[in-house]
Formats: sequence, C-alpha cells, structure tokens
Amino acid sequence: MVTLNSKSKVAVFISGRGSNLKALIKNSKLKRSKYKISLVLSNKSNAKGLDFAKKNKIKNYFIEKKLSNFENRALKLIKINKIKIICLAGFMRILSPNFIKKAAIPIINIHPSLLPKLKGLNTHERAIKAKYKFSGCTVHYVNEKLDSGKIIIQKRVRVFKSDNPKSLAKKILKLEHKAYAEALQKII
Ligand code: GAR
Repeated sequence: MVTLNSKSKVAVFISGRGSNLKALIKNSKLKRSKYKISLVLSNKSNAKGLDFAKKNKIKNYFIEKKLSNFENRALKLIKINKIKIICLAGFMRILSPNFIKKAAIPIINIHPSLLPKLKGLNTHERAIKAKYKFSGCTVHYVNEKLDSGKIIIQKRVRVFKSDNPKSLAKKILKLEHKAYAEALQKII
C-alpha cells in the first residue's frame, strides 16, 4: 500500500521555553494541518522546548553555541531531513547571511511586537514605556536584517494602563501560539 504524506516538513529552532514550539506541534496534529514538525534544534542544552520534542518523538539536537558550528550542523540536518521551512521560535541568535543563502528554503520568525515597531529585545517594556495603545506579535520572513523581512501575519492586543510587561507578555504569547500555526498554513 502506498501512503501519501504530503505534509511539508518543518524544522523549529529554539533557545528556551519552547511554548511556540509546543503550539506548533499541537496544531500540526490537526487533520487540516499542512505541515509536520520533523526536526527541532536548540543552541541551549537546557532549553525546555527540547523536552516537548522528545515527548513527541521528534528528532531533536542541541548544537554547541558557537554560531558557525550551529549553522554548519543545521545545514546538514536540514538537507538530510528534507526540511522545507525553518521556523525560529524564541531562537535568540541572529543567523548569518551565509546560512540564509545556503539553506535556500523559507525561514520565518515570530516576534513579540507589531513590526516594524519595536525590533529587537524587551518589546513589552518598550511598548508600555512608549504608551502604545496596541501591541502584538508578527510572523515574518527572515532576511539579513534583524526583524525586517516581509510580514506574513500580525495579531494585535490593546495595551491597557493597568498592563505591565509581564501581563502584556502573557496576552501576546497567547496570540503568538495562534499566529504561528496560521502563518505556516498561509505560506504552504
Ligand atoms: C516569544 O515571545 C517570541 O516571540 C520571542 O521569544 C519568546 C519565546 O517563547 N522571540 C523573540 O523575542 C525573538 N526576537 P517560547 O520559547 O515560549 O516560544
């Protein structure tokens, strides 16, 4: 019997908690999902996200911190595992232009702000300080410039006067978990 499995193989790069990875895995199990998570790479040995990968029997690797080592190993694993898309999910390293070129597949990232506002780190603190009425999350393609590639999906929330960075982060993280799967479904 021939089994047709046309789901696109996705690799997720993480550095820590991995709640976006967890949401992506959960969504990938839905019948209508067009993707499957086939590979998880972390640049941190203690990344909690690696546990979700193990639990779900997804190939997972910690690759040592030096960026060039990480990238060389990642390129090999991407080829071997026939990965079609890379998702950065809380991956706190900037990939080199050389990696982006050599990977030659779409790389997408989730960022906790309404880009192009608030590129970089500490977005929730900065949203509150700037007294923004809205903040949110963005899923975008990765290019050579930080948080600057073409936007795929954004979701926004109201920032209330009563919000602090922690409460805002919590609200936005909930949206991130929906946005990432939606973005993948959209581009496949
Ligand atoms: C998420 O909020 C993600 O948007 C952010 O890190 C968190 C990772 O959480 N990414 C960035 O700030 C990238 N610049 P997770 O490990 O639970 O998915």
